[in-house]
Amino acid sequence: MKMISITFLFFIIIILTSSPSYAEDDVLCLKGLKNSLTDPSGRLTTWSFPNSSSSSICTLTGVSCWNAKENRIISLHLPSMQLAGQIPESLKLCRSLQSLDLSDNDFSGSIPREICSWLPYLVTLNLSGNKLSGEIPSEIADCKFLNSLALNDNKLTGPVPFQLTRLNRLQRLSLSDNGLSGLIPADLSHFGEDGFTGNNGLCGKPLSNCGALNGKNVTVIVIAGVTGAVGSLCVGFAVFWWFFVRDVRRKKGYGAGECKDDGDWIGLMNSHKLVQVALFQKPIVKIRLADLIVATDSFGSDSVVVSSRTGVSYKADLPDGSALEVKRLSCGYELSEKQFRSEVNRLGQIRHPNLVPLLGFCVVEDERLLVYKHMVNGTLKSRLQGLDWPARVKVGVRAARGLAWLHHGCETACLHQYISSNVILLDEEFDARVIDYGLGKLVSFERDSNDSSFSNGDFGEVGYVAPEYTSTMVASLSGDVYAFGVVLLEIVTGQKPVLVNDGEDWFNGSLVDWVSKHLSDGGSKDVVDRSVIGRGYDDEIMQFLRIACSCVVSRPKERPLMIHVYESLKKLGYHYGFFTEHSDEFPLIFNKQEP
Ligand SMILES: *[C@@H]1O[C@H](CO)[C@@H](O)[C@H](O)[C@H]1NC(C)=O
Ligand SMILES: *[C@@H]1O[C@H](CO)[C@@H](O)[C@H](O)[C@H]1NC(C)=O
Repeated sequence: MKMISITFLFFIIIILTSSPSYAEDDVLCLKGLKNSLTDPSGRLTTWSFPNSSSSSICTLTGVSCWNAKENRIISLHLPSMQLAGQIPESLKLCRSLQSLDLSDNDFSGSIPREICSWLPYLVTLNLSGNKLSGEIPSEIADCKFLNSLALNDNKLTGPVPFQLTRLNRLQRLSLSDNGLSGLIPADLSHFGEDGFTGNNGLCGKPLSNCGALNGKNVTVIVIAGVTGAVGSLCVGFAVFWWFFVRDVRRKKGYGAGECKDDGDWIGLMNSHKLVQVALFQKPIVKIRLADLIVATDSFGSDSVVVSSRTGVSYKADLPDGSALEVKRLSCGYELSEKQFRSEVNRLGQIRHPNLVPLLGFCVVEDERLLVYKHMVNGTLKSRLQGLDWPARVKVGVRAARGLAWLHHGCETACLHQYISSNVILLDEEFDARVIDYGLGKLVSFERDSNDSSFSNGDFGEVGYVAPEYTSTMVASLSGDVYAFGVVLLEIVTGQKPVLVNDGEDWFNGSLVDWVSKHLSDGGSKDVVDRSVIGRGYDDEIMQFLRIACSCVVSRPKERPLMIHVYESLKKLGYHYGFFTEHSDEFPLIFNKQEP
């Protein structure tokens, strides 16, 4: 038995590690960087680029790759090298970059506004200790995955952009020792005094009050003063916007949907309070947008359930004690309102015990909201650590059942396209329910026409994107299976899909790479979450791991169908008896009734 399983794992590893090598963009990125920077102490002279594309750039000073076999850079750490020049545009060719550290050098000029469209997956950005000037661009809030942002010890001026409050994954923020001024946005005060000191003009919590007044009063006074003056300007500006800015935006190919800043869009919602929320089943009481605004505390940050590529969802507590989940779709969709309505109506017909039912929707100008039933136990991602092994098996089996139904049970196969541990929600019985299915048609992300490089955000969440998408660019059922395999790996390992904690250190690569590395070293038990191993389930865990690995093999054709993944997991979990509550029969007929 052992022998068989080892051979099987070995086979999987071979497939896992033989993924195709990537484009040469990352090589050009480093070349561009080297050419545009001044390097007085010759620290980058060791950067040489042999001309065959198969040779690796991964061993160059400061460069780390997702894995050793492909030239795809995950982090670039060049601190304290006396490098000078502007932050170079060629960085945009290092699109997979997650960590950029240019600290303690002589970089000057301003922080490029485009930095987050160049590097959308940044998790850490350290530009501290340079000579950067100008304002902090508000677009830095577009780096949605930022965990740590250090801009301290520069010559930055202007305000702290309130958009930074949108970065809901931010754990560290350091803006100290610059020339910043103005009021610190209230939602940033928890980053502590050290993050803001050494800026003469900055005030408000956690620093001292602004003058004799406290922060709040200042805001009120400023708003009161400005409103009068601005009122008369507004009409003029609106006309200007309509004829000019809007036109430019359209020409730039932004598509129909335009994202508004936080303040703006809530204002827009408020001005359409009476719009009725369209519900698929006859509601007992009508719900208006105003009800959702109240129930989500004006779409406040405390109501955010999860924020993902497809949008931000909010918990809405209704007066009768029930709760809904309202999802504000990311802008950038191409569908007209009519197409959108018909597509959403189709999704609204889908009912399955392991899918979160879509209850309704609401359209206000370019804003589109989807209304789902709320799941009390939140996302698998947030709950995983607290689940014992049997509970994890249940989630795996049941989520697979929902997805298998989407793939094989619907009238026409329905792709999910955004599978991650954030779209598997847990209901009151910790049963899994998949949300966000079918959003692929509703959201599509703007692509720069000059940029032929593939942006994997179009095909799912970072860490879940199947390797073949770089060349096929077409979402597929087997791509969903890959993403689900990553979720299964999370369940076994307790790790995140990217930023894997490898003992003391962060592993350089994805969860799939990390697992395959350990398996090839013969340490299959090393990858299993410590909180579930050695409690009498080890054999079952190994079988589960094998199923997970079969989903993430790099050749799409060799991955099982979702229905087979479900069948294998079901067999493995059968003795737990969680098939009694619902009929075990797989509903292969399209079923419009609520079960
Ligand atoms: C690149 O290839 C050419 C011919 O194929 C060769 O002459 C040259 O030396 C190579 N350059 C490097 C840096 O390897
Ligand atoms: C940024 O870099 C500086 C200097 O290299 C280092 O001291 C600091 O800890 C870094 N900050 C963060 C947030 O990583």
